[in-house]
Amino acid sequence: MSHDFQTFLKKLENCGELSRVGPEVDPFLEMGAIADRVSKQAGGGKALLFERPTGKTIPVAMNVFGSLKRMEMALGVDGEPRGLDALADRIEALVQKAMPKPGATLFEKLGKLMSLVEVGSWLPKTVRKGLCQEVVLRGDQIRLTDLPVLTTWPEDGGPFITLGMSHTRNKETGHRNMGLYRLQVYDDRTLGFHTQLHHDGARNRHGYDADERMPVAVTFGGDPALTYAATAPLPPFISEVMFAGFLRGEGIETVRCITNDLEVPADSELVIEGYVLPGELRREGPFGDHTGYYSLADDYPVLHVEAITMRKHPVFPATIVGRPPQEDAYLGLATERIFLPLLRMVLPEICDMHLPAAGAFHNLVILSMKKEYPGHPQKVMSAIWGTGQIMFTKGIVIVDEDIDPHDLTEVLFRLTSNVDPKRDLLFTEGPLDVLDHAADRFAYGSKVGVDATRKNKPWDGYPREWPRDLAFPEAVLDLVARRWSDYGL
Ligand SMILES: Cc1cc2nc3c(=O)[nH]c(=O)nc-3n(C[C@H](O)[C@H](O)[C@H](O)COP(=O)(O)O)c2cc1C
Repeated sequence: MSHDFQTFLKKLENCGELSRVGPEVDPFLEMGAIADRVSKQAGGGKALLFERPTGKTIPVAMNVFGSLKRMEMALGVDGEPRGLDALADRIEALVQKAMPKPGATLFEKLGKLMSLVEVGSWLPKTVRKGLCQEVVLRGDQIRLTDLPVLTTWPEDGGPFITLGMSHTRNKETGHRNMGLYRLQVYDDRTLGFHTQLHHDGARNRHGYDADERMPVAVTFGGDPALTYAATAPLPPFISEVMFAGFLRGEGIETVRCITNDLEVPADSELVIEGYVLPGELRREGPFGDHTGYYSLADDYPVLHVEAITMRKHPVFPATIVGRPPQEDAYLGLATERIFLPLLRMVLPEICDMHLPAAGAFHNLVILSMKKEYPGHPQKVMSAIWGTGQIMFTKGIVIVDEDIDPHDLTEVLFRLTSNVDPKRDLLFTEGPLDVLDHAADRFAYGSKVGVDATRKNKPWDGYPREWPRDLAFPEAVLDLVARRWSDYGL
C-alpha cells in the first residue's frame, strides 16, 4: 500500500480531517494567518489544502500533522486503543528484548537495540525509480521562487521553507541524518541552511573542509512518518529514515539523487539537491519562531541548489510556527509519548511525562516519579539536564507517582501547595536551546527544578507531620455515584 503524502491527504479528506481552500490565497502572510487561526482551534483544527496559491502553480498543504488524530494516522496507530502509546509499547517490548547490561548508558542501550534482527526489516530499501524524479530541473530551469514558499510573519527576513527534511551524511562515520530545518529562500538558487548548533545537521558538516562540498538533499512529503521522524530527538547513529521504517513497520524505499550520492525517499513530492560549503556563512532570519517570538538574525551556512526533482503534480507541505499551540505541538506530543520508554530505560523511576505545548518544547517538563531515597527528584532533574535534546529544558517540575502530569490544574495545585521555595528549588546552569531569548548569553543559561512531591517519607527530612490528602472513602463515593440521579441535581 502506498504511503506517499498525497495518498495520506486523500485519507485525511475521506475521514473529514482535511479542508480544501478553493479561492486564491497569498503565500505572503495570508496563508500563514489562516493556518495560525485554524491550528489554534480546539483540538488543532483541520488540515488545509490551498489549491490556488497566488502566483504559483503548486498547491500547498498545511496543518497536516496538527491534531492528535492526524498524528496517530500519520504514524499508523489511529486504530490502536492506546494511540501513540502503542508505539511506546512497541519500543518498550524491544527494550525488554535487548536487555542491555545494568548501568549501561542510554546510548549504549540504544546501540544494543539497533543490533536486533528486526532492525533489518526497517532499513531503507534502494529502488531504481521514484515518483520524486518524474520531473528533473537543472541549471537555469531551477527557480526556487516558483515554489509556493510562505512568508509567515511580517518581520521575517524573507520567505522560508518550513517543512523540508534535510538529508546529510557524516563524512567520518557514514551515518545518515535527516532533520527538519527551516530554509530561507535568498534567490532562485540559494537557501539559508538553518541547522542549529546542537543538532546533528550542524555537526555533520564538521568533517568537511571549509571549502569542500557537503551534499545535501531536502525532501518534502513521502510517508508521513518521515516528517515526524525528522523532528525526533534521535542520537546521531540512528538514521531517521530507518526510524520512520520502524514506525511504519517496513523499510522506506529510497532512490539515489541525480547530482550526488545521497539517497532520498522515492515517493517524496519534491526534492531539492545541492551542497553546503561549511566555511560559507550568510545572514539568516529574523524568523517568527515556535517560541512565540521572532528569533534574531544570525549567520548560517548557505545551501546551493544544483537540481530540483519532483513528481508530475506535487503538493508542497508547509507549516507555520509561532505562539503555541500550533501544528508542531502535535509533533512534540508524539515525541513525548514515543520517547518516554527510552527515557525510562535510564530513569525507570519516571512514571509519566508531559511537555505542555505552551512551554514550546524546551521550557517546561513535568514528570511524575516514584521517590525512593533522599535527593531522588534532584537526581532525576540532573539526569534530564544531561540527556539528549531534553537537556535544554529550562524548568522541570516533579510530582509524585499518583499525580497525572497532564492535569495542569492538579500540577499547579501540588506545585503551589507542596513546595517550600527555599528547600525545593534546585538551580543550575547549562546549555539552552539556541532559540531561547531570556538568557543573557546565547545558548547558555540557568535552569530550575522544582520538587513538588509530598515530603512525607521518613527520609525526606521534613521535621513536622506532613498532612494527608483529602479523600472520601471509596464506599461513600460509590454510594453517591449510585444514588446520583435520586438527588435531582
Ligand atoms: C516545525 C519545526 C521546525 C524546526 N526548525 C528547525 C530549524 O530551523 N533548525 C534546527 O536546527 N532545528 C529545527 N527544528 C528542530 C529539529 O527538527 C529537531 O530538533 C531534530 O531532532 C533535529 O535533528 P538532528 O539532531 O538530527 O539535526 C524544527 C522542528 C520543528 C518541529
